[in-house]
This record gives sequence, C-alpha cells and structure tokens, in this order.
Amino acid sequence: MTHASTIAIDGTAASGKSTIGEMLARRLGYLYLDTGAMYRAVALAALRSGMEIANEEKVSRLAQSIRLEILPPDGYDDGRQYNILLDGEDVTWSLRTPEVNAVVSQVSTYPGVRRALTRLQRRIGQHGKVVMVGRDIGTVVMPDADLKLFLDASPEERAHRRHKEMAARGVESSFDEVLRWIMHRDQIDSCRDIAPLRPADDAVIIDTTNMSVEEVFEKALKLAEDP
Ligand code: DC
Repeated sequence: MTHASTIAIDGTAASGKSTIGEMLARRLGYLYLDTGAMYRAVALAALRSGMEIANEEKVSRLAQSIRLEILPPDGYDDGRQYNILLDGEDVTWSLRTPEVNAVVSQVSTYPGVRRALTRLQRRIGQHGKVVMVGRDIGTVVMPDADLKLFLDASPEERAHRRHKEMAARGVESSFDEVLRWIMHRDQIDSCRDIAPLRPADDAVIIDTTNMSVEEVFEKALKLAEDP
C-alpha cells in the first residue's frame, strides 16, 4: 500500500499529539490541522463576548457564527505551528492562556459546538494529505482515516511536558496545578456523551511515557509509510 493519505492522531492532553502531528505533516508534505485549537478559539470567542460559558445555546450559536481560518505559520519565528484567525484577528497565542484552558473542555461538550467544528474539519480533511489531531478524529471526524494513532502517557509525564512548554513561553504555572488540570480535562473529555476521548477500534495505541519525541516520530512515520 502507498503512504497513508489521511492520518488521525488522537490522545490525552499533552500526550505529544501536536508535536508528532506537526513533524509527520512536515515530513510527508501534508496539511497539519490541530482541531483542539478550533475548540479553543470557540472558548476564547465566548470569553471575549462575556457570555456565560454555561449557556450552551449561546455558546453553540457563537460556534456557528464565528469565522475560523487556519493558515501556515509563515513569517513567524516564535514556535507557532500555524496561525489561527478568529474573525480575521490572529489569536494563535491567546488560545493557550489559563482562562481558555479553564473552560475549553466544557465548551467542547456542547453538541452544537461539536457539530459546527466537525463539519469544518471534515471539509478540510476531504482532500486527503492531511494529519488531523484531536480527541475524536479516528472515531468521528475521519472514521475512514488510512492511519489512526492514539497517544497516551502517564498524567505526571504529561503535566511535566505541559509545564515545561508553558515556562518556555514565559507563562508561569505550578506543576501541581497543571497536573490537576490535565486530569480534570481528561475526565471531562473521556466522560462526555458525544464523541468522548477513546481510541478507535483500529487505532494503534502508543504509550509515550518513556519514549523520546524522536522515537515516537520514527514509529509514527513507519506506520504512515506502511499503514
Ligand atoms: O488538544 P487541546 O488541549 O488543545 O484541546 C482542547 C480541548 O478541546 C480539550 O479539552 C478537548 C477538546 N477537543 C475535543 O473535544 N475534540 C477535538 N477533536 C479536539 C479537542
């Protein structure tokens, strides 16, 4: 078989999905789409509008009305993987704040929000040559993907990675707090009724706890070249 054209990468928070997804897309010359950023953009838009995050109807309507554009990171040298525009404004780094972290999982439980974003994700994925990263890509968004990976790691290792990543960007955080949030978000992501976080039956599960980024990448690349 030829290389996988549609690659779905799902997994727990900070399991390495976006790092591996981006590396794989770059190596294969594919489009990279981080769907978590799309849920974050809806959360940011809701926070900015001042609406109650608990108001499911309003947040869902907002998700249907905003304009999201995801563009290559050309021209920037600050470690970003893409530019994401919310109604024309570059909000790439505003998506990674503690305020957004605190509400994004709740926003992503709303069926209306998921419907709007899933539709957009499928449209982007339909032409193939894409690495799409999220929680429900292999199960819901692209159930026919040529390759499905599911990444996981221990909560402590994931908190360590996220803590380091935030520090590198100058965002202060306490390790314990990051660990608590990661576990809290996994809980919400795994227990929601619609599109819960779980591996597709035909996903390859990779526990990255004791693996280097290069090891995970090599394994993912081999699978992509010979799915
Ligand atoms: O990967 P991330 O931390 O940026 O994801 C942010 C939130 O969005 C996370 O709580 C789960 C949710 N999400 C989702 O429900 N479905 C996706 N396909 C991607 C992310």
